[in-house]
Amino acid sequence: MTIMNTRLDPLEYYTEKDWSAMMAEAKKYETPFLLVNLGIIRQRYQQLKELFPYAVVHYAVKANPSQPVLELLQGLGSNFDVASINELDSLLALGVLPDRISYGNTIKKRAHVEYAYAKGIRLFASDSEVDIRNLASAAPGSGIFLRILAEHSSTADWPLSKKFGCHPDMAIDLLMLANKLGLKAKGVSFHVGSQQREIGAWDSSISRAKYIFDYLEAEKIPLSLINMGGGFPASYISRTPEMSTYASELNRYLSEDFGENLPHIILEPGRSLVADAGILVTEVVLISKKSSFGVDTWLYTDAGKFNGLMETMEESIKYPLFCESAGRLVEDFIIAGPTCDSQDIMYETFRNPLPRHIDIGDRIYWLTAGAYTSSYSSVGFNGFPPIASHFMES
Ligand SMILES: Cc1ncc(COP(=O)(O)O)c(C=O)c1O
Repeated sequence: MTIMNTRLDPLEYYTEKDWSAMMAEAKKYETPFLLVNLGIIRQRYQQLKELFPYAVVHYAVKANPSQPVLELLQGLGSNFDVASINELDSLLALGVLPDRISYGNTIKKRAHVEYAYAKGIRLFASDSEVDIRNLASAAPGSGIFLRILAEHSSTADWPLSKKFGCHPDMAIDLLMLANKLGLKAKGVSFHVGSQQREIGAWDSSISRAKYIFDYLEAEKIPLSLINMGGGFPASYISRTPEMSTYASELNRYLSEDFGENLPHIILEPGRSLVADAGILVTEVVLISKKSSFGVDTWLYTDAGKFNGLMETMEESIKYPLFCESAGRLVEDFIIAGPTCDSQDIMYETFRNPLPRHIDIGDRIYWLTAGAYTSSYSSVGFNGFPPIASHFMES
């Protein structure tokens, strides 16, 4: 058992100004809830634009689809990437023009392709022949980027490989088919895995894209676009290089492969724009032991896997936890959610240190929780409502 004397310092994650404003705001609401500081999203977006001046940002709506977040990013000039026609509808309802939206999900019903096309969407991702044929007939003349399989899934905290993308040789065949069927074969996309800690993951995917570009150039089908996906980091317990290091390395990979002839570059960040802006505020419901001599202590909070903390699945995302109560920290606690489901355990192997004398009713703040929390929350499992979101700007 590790005993530590100091509690987690939130100022390693937030500026003093942001943190004190967020703590003051959090006092107003009953737990559990997500508090999103829109000012932090604004900063992250501006930083990304400064670091990648040549790229067009398509915010991945799935990370946090709430209206204030979409409105903010719309106002900042962001484009958007949607996974479904429902995400598309939310953007159109806000007045986002269809030429600022890409349909990035490679898995889609033909009826949804028709719907998106009727609404004006002209840029789609694909990775299969059936989808290409659907797009050719239901979204004629649209621009297509072909998603390729990406390596390095083991260094991403939330891998996205395997299910999406295809081998580069198949991507070549599909782009040629798209071209033959009257679609615009625009280029290549990949996603190296969310919260990708190994920057080199982009290197191999950019090289694969270059191979595809060269091949199709020789076939007189010039490509013009690389969509480098998301994967950029947020500040969880396992630290990553700075965003500026990601940018300088990616710039280097691109110029090594493409020199002066840089294609159009799209980025599709989700997590890196919104995660740091959110804190999930929970309360301790119960603390108990399973036997009188057991060393482990079970600590149950009022939010769990089914109302906000899905990304603790397989203990993948390790949120920094903060408690106001002082005192020695211990790693005795197995942390679980409130539902009657035994999957609703957030951390059992990974032990997040908590104050030894933490008590029922104390608040636990899950930092860096602005991404994939509210959007992953169930609609009412065990009667617990979806996690509430509150918004502020400091
Ligand atoms: C197609 C696509 N683009 C972008 C993203 C956003 O990735 P991230 O949250 O790692 O930035 C995802 C995440 O699932 C995705 O599936």
